[in-house]
Amino acid sequence: MIKTNHDMKEETNLKRETMGSESMVLLSRREVEKMRQAGRLAAQLLDHLEPMVQPGVTTLELNDEAERWTQAHQARSAPLAYDPSGKNPFPKSICTSVNHVICHGIPSARQVLKSGDIINIDVTPILDGYHGDTSRTFLVGTPSPIAKQLVEVTYECLMRGIDAVKPGGKIGDIGSAIQAHAEAQGFSVVRDFVGHGVGTTFHTEPQVPHYGQQGKGKKLRPGMVFTIEPMINEGTWEARMLEDGWTAVTADGKLSAQFEHTIAVTTTGVEILTLPD
Ligand code: MF3
Ligand code: CO
Ligand code: CO
Repeated sequence: MIKTNHDMKEETNLKRETMGSESMVLLSRREVEKMRQAGRLAAQLLDHLEPMVQPGVTTLELNDEAERWTQAHQARSAPLAYDPSGKNPFPKSICTSVNHVICHGIPSARQVLKSGDIINIDVTPILDGYHGDTSRTFLVGTPSPIAKQLVEVTYECLMRGIDAVKPGGKIGDIGSAIQAHAEAQGFSVVRDFVGHGVGTTFHTEPQVPHYGQQGKGKKLRPGMVFTIEPMINEGTWEARMLEDGWTAVTADGKLSAQFEHTIAVTTTGVEILTLPD
């Protein structure tokens, strides 16, 4: 996910359609097929890592296996050296966000998973130039009831957001569906990070907030490809940034969970591009 309101690099080598003042990338069928292949690889990478998520594993071990597997599949890891600010490259190949970490956690040899933890693993392999961006939150060992409920509700939020996508609808329909479900369960929606357009560029238009109002925002059109990646908190939605310039944590130290899919708007509805097969 990306921090909201920062300047996003524009796609240059894709078909671009201008609608009034809005400029939006629409992918051709051939390009959506490339995204399907990258997305499938990303989902298969999470499937590959899942059995490693056990008490005693370090987040660096997860990172190193992800990097090895990605290279073995003729892809590369988009997060490695990703540097939107131009002065603080991301140092690892995946993001590992444990417990109160909202997103962009950095894998470390000093971070050993223990029973009761929750961990989001966010992967983005680039295959033949196209990015497949997906994440899931896993339960380590035996979770607390609240951790289990938060993770379940967060997955439901993602799927409700996806169900809200249809051609002719609006970006705001997505956040509205997510926010309604999260808050009805007593949880909160992170505001500072949003879903994003994705293709040959990692982060592009549109921004996709996970809160908002139905009927507001840009119109959804067939060929638009973007992520939906709600971060849902047990307590306050407010976030803080750690000294490393990447790790975002909850302001109150309570739990945060996230799931992410890359999707395409189709002529009839929506297609999830980050499914294993
Ligand atoms: N994969 C994240 C997303 O969903 C972005 C990670 S950027 C990194 O958008 F540099 F932190 F890896
Ligand atoms: Co993303
Ligand atoms: Co991601």
